[in-house]
Amino acid sequence: VILVETPTYPGLLELAAQRGQPVVGIPRDAEGPSLAAIEAAGAAHRPRLLYLVPTFHNPTGRSTSAARRAEILRLAAERDFLVLEDDPYGLLPLDDAAPPALKGDDDRGRVVYVASFSKILLPGLRLGAMVAGPEVLPRLVAVKRTSDLTCSPILQAALADYLRRGQLDPHLRRVRPLYRERCDAMLAAVQRHLPTARFARPAGGLSVWVELPAGVVERDFYLAALERGVGVARGQSFWPRPTDEPFLRLSYGTHTPEEIERGIAILGEVLREHDRRRFDLVARAGRFGSPLV
Ligand SMILES: Cc1ncc(COP(=O)(O)O)c(C=O)c1O
Repeated sequence: VILVETPTYPGLLELAAQRGQPVVGIPRDAEGPSLAAIEAAGAAHRPRLLYLVPTFHNPTGRSTSAARRAEILRLAAERDFLVLEDDPYGLLPLDDAAPPALKGDDDRGRVVYVASFSKILLPGLRLGAMVAGPEVLPRLVAVKRTSDLTCSPILQAALADYLRRGQLDPHLRRVRPLYRERCDAMLAAVQRHLPTARFARPAGGLSVWVELPAGVVERDFYLAALERGVGVARGQSFWPRPTDEPFLRLSYGTHTPEEIERGIAILGEVLREHDRRRFDLVARAGRFGSPLV
């Protein structure tokens, strides 16, 4: 059994489903994944792994607090499970720097840390990095080799050269203000055009997590937005089990503030249209009267 925060990154859920690996959801609160839920799941399922995005979590953009991180490490040792710390966004803070990685305090070899160059540099590289203890690393390397032989050596050499020449830092210094501007544009647009939605400012990453008003049918909303040319990530894909609560993940990374304003304005129109239709149907159902049985 794998424990995952809910909501969580859909790629992990798809991978687990593909491999027939049971997944148990751990709800997040303001500080991160709930300790009580980890304790309960630890006792009930004897999990082998807890998958976390503790820094600038996908999809909420929030980070797990320092106290919660320490407690998670304690529980991992106590309950004998590993923690997979997935950190593709740590170098993309919006305001304050990222909190220190869980792996940094892992004196008992419980954490496998993975980072990626996809979000901070170029998704097409398909390159990342891993830090793990000597008892697990050779097994992970073997699994990687059987899954894709190796990553492209030419791309690896090119990236190593880029890093050696110190080019990543200037790149990050250039893109961070750009992402901050885009995030601010998106938050302002959501406030303006989706006033009944709930959201919080992310601490970093590339997206805003939006809760639509209860009663909105997420799938209908998503399809209507797509029909109007606006693609969003459906909240549903971030949960291991279906939920009724409608959410959207809105990504601001690749769009200018003007495009963001236009796109969110369309989402506002879609929501108003959706509500009109919903209230109309409810009123029409009311006119038919109550069923006899
Ligand atoms: C939390 C998380 N992990 C992993 C990935 C995928 O990273 P990569 O492109 O390195 O496979 C993503 C991409 O969205 C992500 O959000």
